[in-house]
Amino acid sequence: MYLAIIGGTGLSQLDGMEEMRHQVVSTPYGEPSGPITVGRMGGQEILFLPRHGYNHRIAPHEINYRANIWALREMQVTKILAVSAVGGISATMTPGSLCVPDQIIDYTWGRPSTFFEGDLESVTHVDFSYPYDEQLRNAFLQAGAALSIPMIDGGTYGATQGPRFETAAEIRRLEQDGCHVVGMTGMPEAVLARESDIRYASLNVVGNWAAGRSGPRLVSMAEISQTLRVSMKDVRRVLGQILQHQE
Ligand code: HPA
Repeated sequence: MYLAIIGGTGLSQLDGMEEMRHQVVSTPYGEPSGPITVGRMGGQEILFLPRHGYNHRIAPHEINYRANIWALREMQVTKILAVSAVGGISATMTPGSLCVPDQIIDYTWGRPSTFFEGDLESVTHVDFSYPYDEQLRNAFLQAGAALSIPMIDGGTYGATQGPRFETAAEIRRLEQDGCHVVGMTGMPEAVLARESDIRYASLNVVGNWAAGRSGPRLVSMAEISQTLRVSMKDVRRVLGQILQHQE
Protein backbone atom coordinates (compact mmCIF):
# COMPACT_ATOMS: atom_id res chain seq x y z
CA MET A 1 0.00 0.00 0.00
CA TYR A 2 1.58 3.16 -1.22
CA LEU A 3 0.90 6.85 -1.28
CA ALA A 4 1.65 8.51 -4.61
CA ILE A 5 2.20 12.13 -5.45
CA ILE A 6 1.22 13.32 -8.92
CA GLY A 7 3.08 16.52 -9.71
CA GLY A 8 1.83 19.15 -12.12
CA THR A 9 3.31 22.23 -13.77
CA GLY A 10 6.10 23.49 -11.55
CA LEU A 11 6.49 20.15 -9.78
CA SER A 12 8.09 17.73 -12.22
CA GLN A 13 10.73 16.89 -9.66
CA LEU A 14 10.24 16.26 -5.99
CA ASP A 15 13.20 17.81 -4.18
CA GLY A 16 13.45 16.33 -0.75
CA MET A 17 12.65 12.84 -2.00
CA GLU A 18 15.49 10.41 -1.94
CA GLU A 19 15.11 8.54 -5.23
CA MET A 20 15.54 4.78 -5.01
CA ARG A 21 14.54 3.53 -8.45
CA HIS A 22 12.44 4.21 -11.51
CA GLN A 23 9.84 1.67 -12.43
CA VAL A 24 8.62 1.34 -16.00
CA VAL A 25 5.05 0.08 -16.00
CA SER A 26 3.21 -0.87 -19.16
CA THR A 27 -0.56 -0.80 -19.15
CA PRO A 28 -3.38 -1.92 -21.45
CA TYR A 29 -3.84 1.78 -22.24
CA GLY A 30 -0.28 2.50 -23.31
CA GLU A 31 2.50 4.39 -21.63
CA PRO A 32 2.16 6.49 -18.49
CA SER A 33 3.72 9.97 -18.46
CA GLY A 34 7.03 8.35 -17.49
CA PRO A 35 8.56 5.72 -15.28
CA ILE A 36 7.29 5.89 -11.73
CA THR A 37 9.83 7.10 -9.22
CA VAL A 38 10.03 5.05 -6.06
CA GLY A 39 11.61 7.07 -3.33
CA ARG A 40 11.77 7.91 0.30
CA MET A 41 10.43 11.06 1.90
CA GLY A 42 9.59 11.83 5.52
CA GLY A 43 10.72 8.32 6.46
CA GLN A 44 8.23 6.68 4.09
CA GLU A 45 8.48 4.93 0.80
CA ILE A 46 6.38 6.82 -1.72
CA LEU A 47 5.80 6.97 -5.44
CA PHE A 48 6.02 10.02 -7.65
CA LEU A 49 4.77 10.67 -11.16
CA PRO A 50 4.87 14.01 -12.97
CA ARG A 51 1.74 14.08 -15.11
CA HIS A 52 3.32 16.18 -17.87
CA GLY A 53 6.42 13.95 -17.98
CA TYR A 54 9.80 14.56 -16.39
CA ASN A 55 10.63 17.22 -18.99
CA HIS A 56 7.18 18.77 -18.98
CA ARG A 57 6.45 17.81 -22.56
CA ILE A 58 2.98 16.30 -22.46
CA ALA A 59 0.10 18.73 -23.01
CA PRO A 60 -2.94 18.47 -20.71
CA HIS A 61 -5.24 17.02 -23.38
CA GLU A 62 -2.59 14.48 -24.41
CA ILE A 63 -1.77 13.09 -20.99
CA ASN A 64 -2.57 9.39 -20.83
CA TYR A 65 -4.59 9.68 -17.63
CA ARG A 66 -5.77 6.09 -17.80
CA ALA A 67 -2.24 4.73 -18.13
CA ASN A 68 -1.08 6.93 -15.24
CA ILE A 69 -3.78 5.79 -12.83
CA TRP A 70 -3.61 2.17 -14.00
CA ALA A 71 0.16 2.13 -13.46
CA LEU A 72 -0.19 3.54 -9.96
CA ARG A 73 -2.82 0.98 -9.08
CA GLU A 74 -0.59 -1.76 -10.45
CA MET A 75 2.01 -0.54 -7.99
CA GLN A 76 -0.39 -0.92 -5.05
CA VAL A 77 -1.18 2.76 -4.64
CA THR A 78 -4.18 3.40 -2.39
CA LYS A 79 -3.85 7.17 -1.93
CA ILE A 80 -2.96 9.94 -4.35
CA LEU A 81 -2.02 13.49 -3.45
CA ALA A 82 -2.23 15.51 -6.66
CA VAL A 83 -0.75 18.95 -7.16
CA SER A 84 -1.93 21.18 -9.97
CA ALA A 85 -1.59 24.73 -11.13
CA VAL A 86 -4.80 26.68 -11.64
CA GLY A 87 -6.04 30.10 -12.63
CA GLY A 88 -7.94 32.09 -10.00
CA ILE A 89 -11.53 33.00 -10.87
CA SER A 90 -13.02 34.25 -7.59
CA ALA A 91 -11.58 37.25 -5.78
CA THR A 92 -10.08 35.17 -2.96
CA MET A 93 -8.04 33.06 -5.37
CA THR A 94 -5.16 35.46 -5.73
CA PRO A 95 -2.03 34.27 -7.55
CA GLY A 96 0.24 32.51 -5.10
CA SER A 97 -2.55 31.14 -2.94
CA LEU A 98 -3.20 27.47 -2.26
CA CYS A 99 -6.63 25.90 -2.44
CA VAL A 100 -7.87 22.44 -1.50
CA PRO A 101 -10.93 22.08 -3.73
CA ASP A 102 -13.95 20.03 -2.77
CA GLN A 103 -15.88 19.98 -6.06
CA ILE A 104 -15.32 19.67 -9.79
CA ILE A 105 -17.15 20.69 -12.92
CA ASP A 106 -15.83 18.91 -15.98
CA TYR A 107 -15.72 20.87 -19.24
CA THR A 108 -13.15 18.64 -20.94
CA TRP A 109 -14.12 16.71 -24.05
CA GLY A 110 -12.76 13.86 -26.10
CA ARG A 111 -10.50 12.52 -23.35
CA PRO A 112 -10.76 8.81 -22.60
CA SER A 113 -12.26 9.20 -19.16
CA THR A 114 -13.31 5.80 -17.88
CA PHE A 115 -12.01 2.29 -17.35
CA PHE A 116 -15.55 0.97 -17.66
CA GLU A 117 -16.10 0.57 -21.37
CA GLY A 118 -15.91 -2.07 -24.05
CA ASP A 119 -16.66 -5.68 -23.28
CA LEU A 120 -17.97 -5.38 -19.73
CA GLU A 121 -19.71 -7.96 -17.64
CA SER A 122 -22.00 -5.21 -16.41
CA VAL A 123 -22.14 -1.45 -16.76
CA THR A 124 -20.62 0.31 -13.76
CA HIS A 125 -21.57 3.79 -12.57
CA VAL A 126 -19.35 5.04 -9.76
CA ASP A 127 -20.58 7.54 -7.22
CA PHE A 128 -18.80 10.85 -7.73
CA SER A 129 -20.96 13.20 -5.61
CA TYR A 130 -17.91 14.24 -3.61
CA PRO A 131 -14.97 13.79 -5.97
CA TYR A 132 -12.18 14.30 -3.45
CA ASP A 133 -11.33 12.15 -0.44
CA GLU A 134 -12.14 14.08 2.71
CA GLN A 135 -9.38 12.55 4.82
CA LEU A 136 -6.71 13.45 2.27
CA ARG A 137 -8.17 16.95 1.89
CA ASN A 138 -7.79 17.30 5.64
CA ALA A 139 -4.23 16.06 5.46
CA PHE A 140 -3.42 19.00 3.17
CA LEU A 141 -5.30 21.46 5.38
CA GLN A 142 -3.74 20.24 8.61
CA ALA A 143 -0.25 20.33 7.14
CA GLY A 144 -0.89 23.91 6.01
CA ALA A 145 -2.10 24.82 9.52
CA ALA A 146 0.90 23.17 11.19
CA LEU A 147 3.30 25.10 8.96
CA SER A 148 1.31 28.37 9.04
CA ILE A 149 0.89 28.20 5.28
CA PRO A 150 -2.55 29.61 4.46
CA MET A 151 -4.86 27.37 2.47
CA ILE A 152 -8.35 27.93 1.16
CA ASP A 153 -10.60 25.10 2.31
CA GLY A 154 -12.99 24.17 -0.48
CA GLY A 155 -13.71 25.47 -3.92
CA THR A 156 -15.00 24.23 -7.23
CA TYR A 157 -12.42 23.30 -9.82
CA GLY A 158 -13.49 23.87 -13.42
CA ALA A 159 -11.60 21.46 -15.68
CA THR A 160 -11.14 22.90 -19.16
CA GLN A 161 -9.76 21.25 -22.25
CA GLY A 162 -6.79 23.45 -23.08
CA PRO A 163 -4.10 23.64 -24.12
CA ARG A 164 -5.12 27.23 -24.79
CA PHE A 165 -6.21 29.40 -21.90
CA GLU A 166 -9.86 30.39 -21.70
CA THR A 167 -11.57 33.46 -23.09
CA ALA A 168 -12.79 36.10 -20.64
CA ALA A 169 -16.38 35.12 -21.49
CA GLU A 170 -15.66 31.46 -20.78
CA ILE A 171 -14.31 32.44 -17.39
CA ARG A 172 -17.48 34.50 -16.72
CA ARG A 173 -19.50 31.41 -17.58
CA LEU A 174 -17.40 29.24 -15.29
CA GLU A 175 -17.95 31.75 -12.50
CA GLN A 176 -21.71 31.71 -13.08
CA ASP A 177 -21.57 27.94 -12.92
CA GLY A 178 -19.91 28.21 -9.50
CA CYS A 179 -16.25 27.56 -10.35
CA HIS A 180 -13.62 29.22 -8.17
CA VAL A 181 -10.52 28.02 -9.97
CA VAL A 182 -9.78 26.71 -13.46
CA GLY A 183 -7.26 24.14 -14.61
CA MET A 184 -6.72 21.69 -17.43
CA THR A 185 -5.71 18.43 -15.74
CA GLY A 186 -8.08 17.74 -12.83
CA MET A 187 -10.25 15.54 -15.02
CA PRO A 188 -10.39 12.71 -15.85
CA GLU A 189 -7.60 12.09 -13.31
CA ALA A 190 -9.91 12.35 -10.29
CA VAL A 191 -12.63 10.09 -11.66
CA LEU A 192 -10.20 7.44 -12.84
CA ALA A 193 -8.80 7.31 -9.31
CA ARG A 194 -12.33 6.91 -8.00
CA GLU A 195 -13.04 4.12 -10.49
CA SER A 196 -9.85 2.43 -9.29
CA ASP A 197 -10.78 2.71 -5.61
CA ILE A 198 -7.82 4.97 -4.98
CA ARG A 199 -8.39 7.81 -2.54
CA TYR A 200 -7.54 11.12 -4.18
CA ALA A 201 -7.26 14.78 -3.22
CA SER A 202 -5.74 17.74 -4.98
CA LEU A 203 -3.80 20.80 -3.91
CA ASN A 204 -4.33 23.67 -6.32
CA VAL A 205 -1.66 26.30 -6.67
CA VAL A 206 -3.01 29.52 -8.12
CA GLY A 207 -0.52 30.67 -10.73
CA ASN A 208 -2.42 33.55 -12.31
CA TRP A 209 -5.68 35.41 -12.52
CA ALA A 210 -7.93 33.60 -14.98
CA ALA A 211 -8.65 35.32 -18.30
CA GLY A 212 -10.28 38.72 -17.92
CA ARG A 213 -9.83 38.79 -14.13
CA SER A 214 -7.09 41.39 -14.11
CA GLY A 215 -8.45 43.87 -16.60
CA PRO A 216 -6.87 43.89 -20.02
CA ARG A 217 -3.83 41.90 -18.86
CA LEU A 218 -3.31 38.67 -20.74
CA VAL A 219 -2.55 35.28 -19.23
CA SER A 220 1.14 34.56 -19.61
CA MET A 221 3.00 31.34 -19.01
CA ALA A 222 6.07 33.31 -17.92
CA GLU A 223 4.08 34.96 -15.16
CA ILE A 224 2.58 31.64 -14.09
CA SER A 225 6.00 29.97 -13.94
CA GLN A 226 7.33 32.81 -11.84
CA THR A 227 4.46 32.55 -9.33
CA LEU A 228 4.70 28.77 -9.19
CA ARG A 229 8.42 28.85 -8.54
CA VAL A 230 7.74 30.63 -5.28
CA SER A 231 4.60 28.73 -4.25
CA MET A 232 6.00 25.28 -4.95
CA LYS A 233 8.44 25.80 -2.09
CA ASP A 234 5.43 25.84 0.23
CA VAL A 235 3.91 22.87 -1.57
CA ARG A 236 7.05 20.83 -1.01
CA ARG A 237 7.01 21.69 2.69
CA VAL A 238 3.35 20.70 2.89
CA LEU A 239 4.02 17.34 1.24
CA GLY A 240 6.97 16.72 3.55
CA GLN A 241 4.81 17.51 6.56
CA ILE A 242 2.06 15.14 5.45
CA LEU A 243 4.50 12.30 4.86
CA GLN A 244 5.96 12.68 8.29
CA HIS A 245 2.54 12.25 9.82
CA GLN A 246 0.82 9.67 7.61
CA GLU A 247 1.01 6.11 8.74
N1 HPA B 1 -6.64 28.32 -17.05
C1 HPA B 1 -6.52 26.98 -17.16
N2 HPA B 1 -5.56 26.28 -16.61
C2 HPA B 1 -4.63 26.94 -15.90
C3 HPA B 1 -4.68 28.33 -15.73
C4 HPA B 1 -5.75 29.06 -16.34
O1 HPA B 1 -5.85 30.29 -16.24
N3 HPA B 1 -3.61 28.68 -14.97
C5 HPA B 1 -2.93 27.52 -14.68
N4 HPA B 1 -3.56 26.48 -15.25
